[in-house]
Amino acid sequence: MTRLRSLLLRWLLVPTLSLWALGFVAGYMRSLSQAHEAYDRTLLGSALVVSERLNMADGEVVADLPYAALEMLRTDAQDSIFYRIADLKGGRFITGYEDLPAPAALPREEPVFYDAAYKGHDIRVVALAFTVVDGAEQRPLLVQVAETMDARRQLTWRIVADAASVQLLLIAAAAGLIALGVRQGLAPLKRLRDEVRARGAHDLTPVDTRTVPREVAPLIHAINSHTERQRQLSEAQVRFVANASHQLKTPLTLLRAQVGHALMQIDLEAMRGVVSRLHEATDTTGRLVGQLLALARSEPGRTLEVEDVELTALAREATFEMLPVARGKGIDLGFEGSDSLLVRGERVLLRELVANLVHNAIVYTQERGTVTVSVGKRAQCATLCVVDNGPGIAPAERARAFERFYRIAGSQTQGSGLGLAIVKEICDRHGVDIALVDAPGGGLCVDLVWSCEIIEAQ
Ligand SMILES: Nc1ncnc2c1ncn2[C@@H]1O[C@H](COP(=O)(O)OP(=O)(O)O)[C@@H](O)[C@H]1O
Ligand SMILES: [Mg+2]
Repeated sequence: MTRLRSLLLRWLLVPTLSLWALGFVAGYMRSLSQAHEAYDRTLLGSALVVSERLNMADGEVVADLPYAALEMLRTDAQDSIFYRIADLKGGRFITGYEDLPAPAALPREEPVFYDAAYKGHDIRVVALAFTVVDGAEQRPLLVQVAETMDARRQLTWRIVADAASVQLLLIAAAAGLIALGVRQGLAPLKRLRDEVRARGAHDLTPVDTRTVPREVAPLIHAINSHTERQRQLSEAQVRFVANASHQLKTPLTLLRAQVGHALMQIDLEAMRGVVSRLHEATDTTGRLVGQLLALARSEPGRTLEVEDVELTALAREATFEMLPVARGKGIDLGFEGSDSLLVRGERVLLRELVANLVHNAIVYTQERGTVTVSVGKRAQCATLCVVDNGPGIAPAERARAFERFYRIAGSQTQGSGLGLAIVKEICDRHGVDIALVDAPGGGLCVDLVWSCEIIEAQ
């Protein structure tokens, strides 16, 4: 895990220090050229003073340069000063330090400055042309004055070091401020951590995002919505367990009673009758268990196992599975639809959806009635309709029919009131619109329309 503070410091300090180093080099060069400018003027002054002391005597050049005069020319106590006088033309050495390096090009009106090495020192030299006059004779001379560069370098270092140390102090202060800022910035997160730590295991209420920095809010929102899903899931599970045990109690008590009743029969024929009712009752109980499981699967909060489902084939299978029930009542169960229609969804749930609708249609339609399931397309959207010619559901009851455990008064005894609630929940989870409408023949028409995202299979 990276610490935000060291990450920030690293990302800010490393570039700043690199910039500082670059600035240091650039500053040194600039200061050195400024020091040269200042010291060069003094060096030129010295060369002019030396020139003024050159005279002609008996046709020879005489330099009146006692040691004290030279001492005066030194700009700095540590620097050494050298000079050399020679003929400008011909270059004959006259006086001074003979081996002082000569300029690359002879000076004319303007003096020439250049760097050189002499006696193991780096030196700065000025060379100028000076003419001594003796009566009619004019003698152009080359005057060179040089000094070591210690003073210049020291001045440069002093300037640069002063500036750089101030900058370093500023950078250190900025680093301190950044560390402090990060600490302050993270304080709300620490508060949040303490708040979350102090929570009880069952406290799944959302964390307050008002006190956290705006950048962190999306993270807290995401965690909150995750927690909310967890809360829904655990609530749903609690609800499911309560409902399931409640719903299973009745048919199990009934089964137990019937088994007891069967055991008391002495006559085999009578026992056969009880066992056959027992058989029906186990069917109903099995159905109820299936419905409860479907309910648990379709609860909001649980992630669906979505895949491409071929709706026509699935609906056809689920419909024809009910054939035995339909036959038992002499009901004409039909299926319409042949186009291949792919929808996204959880196969088990979509099957349960069709099964519940068809089962209802068969159960609530009078004997020898008609139930037709049709799958098709409406404006590119997949549709599924279950139409019967039974009693239908009165418009006032239609909304309530979707509620869990709601059964319309007078409905036949088998049933738990869960079928349509499951259908509605599965529709909601799959983005399917469901409507209960009057069938043309007077019965009920359950009309499902998928949101228009079907993928054409062929
Ligand atoms: N096809 C239908 N025709 C008439 N009534 C229906 C039909 N389907 C459902 N119903 C009514 O809606 C009520 C709720 O149905 P459902 O949720 O499946 O519960 P259950 O079938 O267990 O009673 C039923 O009690 C029934 O009265
Ligand atoms: Mg039902």
